[in-house]
Amino acid sequence: MRSEQFMSLTVLPGTNRGGEREGFDRISLCPGDTLSIVGSTGSGKSAFINDIEVLAQGDTITGRSILINGVPPSDEMVRDPSKKPIALITQNTRVIADLTVCRFLALHIRARDTDALELVKRTVTLANEFTGEKIAESMRMTELSGGQTRSLLIADAILIGQTPILLLDEVENAGIFKEKVIRCLKHYNKAVIFVTHDPLLAMITDRRIIMKNGAVTGVLEPGTAEREMVSHISGIDAFLGELREKIRAGDLIETDPLPGKKQVVTA
Ligand SMILES: Nc1ncnc2c1ncn2[C@@H]1O[C@H](COP(=O)(O)OP(=O)(O)O)[C@@H](O)[C@H]1O
Ligand SMILES: [Mg+2]
Repeated sequence: MRSEQFMSLTVLPGTNRGGEREGFDRISLCPGDTLSIVGSTGSGKSAFINDIEVLAQGDTITGRSILINGVPPSDEMVRDPSKKPIALITQNTRVIADLTVCRFLALHIRARDTDALELVKRTVTLANEFTGEKIAESMRMTELSGGQTRSLLIADAILIGQTPILLLDEVENAGIFKEKVIRCLKHYNKAVIFVTHDPLLAMITDRRIIMKNGAVTGVLEPGTAEREMVSHISGIDAFLGELREKIRAGDLIETDPLPGKKQVVTA
């Protein structure tokens, strides 16, 4: 399904681990909407986005059903990966094909019937905006780090697959600039769901789903207080990101003060 044909994704409720119906009527996402999913380990976050990825029709352990544009998806959409409007990228997503980045992207482009070389370049350039460890077209897919792989697959889903819906399962932990990713996904009008433990990501999404015991127990919309905190937290996060890069590069940290922290000047 092409982006322009996608209008909405709807999740209809299932049951929690005890078999009780979960606490929402329907959750819908349109192009440009961002949603985060939070909850402790084992609370059912991955199961929730897997239901979306497989376009569940009451046939998974949770009993949820998914509608695309308000109706159950066609059999063709469920069976044929190229018709599926969804890309799922997880912490463990690795590409095991022994190909260079350039070959991998070119094969995907050919499958999608679009113009090749220039698009490979644009995709690698976009991926490199998401990661501090630069990707070259000549690198092998199998030697990319986790952060490089995820950055490349996000750029690939945006520019080559042109997938309208992206599901990202705990991808923030290593090596991607998450605010850049989210800004870019908004720019391309994607519907995005992040499973996350990251407070900044949880606070910059439009809505936040709370999971417990296998079920959705609440859907929150960040209020003014959270909105106001975001820019402050974003500064702290950028600072930590820079520190992380410097430490990884082997530098010694000497002078940088924390953002917002007054430097004590002694006379
Ligand atoms: N609604 C549910 N009913 C029954 N089992 C569930 C339900 N939701 C999740 N599970 C199961 O619970 C386990 C943990 O869920 P998972 O989605 O991996 O949690 P998380 O991603 O939050 O750590 C998995 O084995 C999953 O299949
Ligand atoms: Mg999980």
